[in-house]
Amino acid sequence: MEQRLSVLRAAKLAGVTRAELQFRIKQGDLPSFDGTVGVGDLLNLYPATRMSDDRTLEKLEKIKAAALGKDIANRSLPDPRVLAERLARLGHQLTRLRQQNEQYAVVLESLENRLRELEQEGDASTRAAVLEIKRTVQSALHQERVESYASGARTDGGSWMTVMAPQVRLVPDDHEFLVEGADTVLEAALRAGLSIAYGCSNGNCGECKARVVSGEVREVRPHDFVISETERTQGYALLCSVAPVTDLVIEVGVASSPDQIALQSIDALVREIQRPKPHVMLLRVQTPRTRRLRFLGGQYARLRVGDEAVEALLPLANCPCDDRNLVFHVAEDREDPFARYCFEHLRKGDPVAVEAPFGDFVIPGDVKRPLVFLACDTGFAAVKSLIEHVIALDEAYGIDLIWVATGAIGHYQDNLCRSWEDALDSLRYRPLRVNSVSGDPETWSATLAGALTRLENPGACDFYIAGPQPFIAVAQDLLKRINVSAEQCRSQTVPPER
Ligand code: FES
Repeated sequence: MEQRLSVLRAAKLAGVTRAELQFRIKQGDLPSFDGTVGVGDLLNLYPATRMSDDRTLEKLEKIKAAALGKDIANRSLPDPRVLAERLARLGHQLTRLRQQNEQYAVVLESLENRLRELEQEGDASTRAAVLEIKRTVQSALHQERVESYASGARTDGGSWMTVMAPQVRLVPDDHEFLVEGADTVLEAALRAGLSIAYGCSNGNCGECKARVVSGEVREVRPHDFVISETERTQGYALLCSVAPVTDLVIEVGVASSPDQIALQSIDALVREIQRPKPHVMLLRVQTPRTRRLRFLGGQYARLRVGDEAVEALLPLANCPCDDRNLVFHVAEDREDPFARYCFEHLRKGDPVAVEAPFGDFVIPGDVKRPLVFLACDTGFAAVKSLIEHVIALDEAYGIDLIWVATGAIGHYQDNLCRSWEDALDSLRYRPLRVNSVSGDPETWSATLAGALTRLENPGACDFYIAGPQPFIAVAQDLLKRINVSAEQCRSQTVPPER
C-alpha cells in the first residue's frame, strides 16, 4: 500500500511552502485524500523531493531564516530522552513491519507451491489460468520494487520526520505545525505563527495548560505550576514544558482576532538600536525571561521611556513568533517628544514600559486570497509584522508589497524586502519613491496608480494599507476606481491615532 504524508510534511520534504502545495492540490496537479498526499504523486510533481535526509527541510527553513532574519543554525537537537523514546517507537514499528514482511513471504511461498502443483496436475486451461496468475503477481511485485527504488527507501521520509519533527494538530480550529529541534510544543506553535494562550513561558502561570487528546508528550522543562493528578490522567499538560514523543492532537484555542487577546503591561529593556538611515531608528526591546507579549501581526503598542515617561503609539514591526523581541521603527521628528527622546537620549539597556496589543490591522483567520500590502514610510513597520506573520504561518503565496518612500527616510529596509523576494517565489516587491513634495497626495496618487495597474487581479486580492492618513485616503480612492470593494481593504494609520 502506498505511503501517504500529511500536506504539511509533504511540503517540508518537497522544500515548498504549504500554501504552494495546497495551491497545486486545488489546481488538480496533485491528488489528495483526507488531507494527505501519496509519496508517488509527490515525487511525480516534485522529482527533487528527498525522502531520506533533511536537505529539503533545511531548504525551507533557510527560506524562512532569510525572510525572518533568524539564525536557524543554532537550533539544537531534541532533548535526548525524547529522542530516545521516539527512536524506540520507531524501532518497534520497524520490528512490526519486519514481522509483517515475514508473514507475507510465507504466504507468497505457499501460493507459489500451490500454483506449481496445479500446473503439474491440471489440464491446459488450468495451466493457462496459473500462468496468468503468476504474471499478475510478478508484475505487481515488480511494480512495487520500481516504486520503492524511485522513492529511495520510501518509508524513510515519514518515519524520519516523525523522529525529528513530530506533527501537532490543534483542535477545534484545525491548525498544524511541526515541532523541530529542542522546541517545546508552545515554542513550536509560536514559531508557526499560532497565537495560543500563554503567559510566562517557563512553567509558572499555568496559562498554557491544554489537553493532549492523542499522542504522547514528555516533560522537558521544569515547572512550578502544579497540574493535579486528575488533570494529568485526563491528558492535561503545560505546553511550555513538554515536547512531543509522537504526533499529537491537542485541544486548545488559537486567537485569530484582537478581541481574543487581553491587554498586557510589560517592563522591557532596550536590547538594540539600529540606524539603517540617518532619520530612522530600529528599536528592539526585549521582554523579561518570564514574560512574552502576546499579540497578532499588524497590531501596535504604547511605549513609555525616560524619567518624564514620554510615550508614543507605534506599530509592532515583527512577527509575534519572534521570541521575547519587540521591534519598533521610529522616524526622526523634532516636534515629537518621544522621537526626540529616542534619538537624543535612549541607550541600550534603558527600561521601556510596553502596553499592548492595540488595533485590528490583522489578517483574520486563514489566508485564503492573495495579499497586497501598501506602505508609506514607517507604515512599513505594520506591514512588515503582517508579512512575517504570514511567512511564519507558511501561507506566503501571492504577496505584493508596494512601499512608497517620501522625504529623507527612504526604503530603510530595502535589503530585507529584496531577501523576501529572493526567498519566496510568490512575493513581489515594488519600492516607489516620491521625490517632489513629501506627503503631497497628488504625487502619491500618480505614483501609486501606476503600480496598482500592474496588479494581476485586484478584485481577487485583500489589501492592507499602512501609513499617514492622507496616503491611506489616496490608496483607498485609487482602489475604489479599479473596483476593489471597501470589504477587501484594511488600513492602519501610522503613527496610530490616539
Ligand atoms: S506559559 Fe506559563 S506555565 Fe506555560
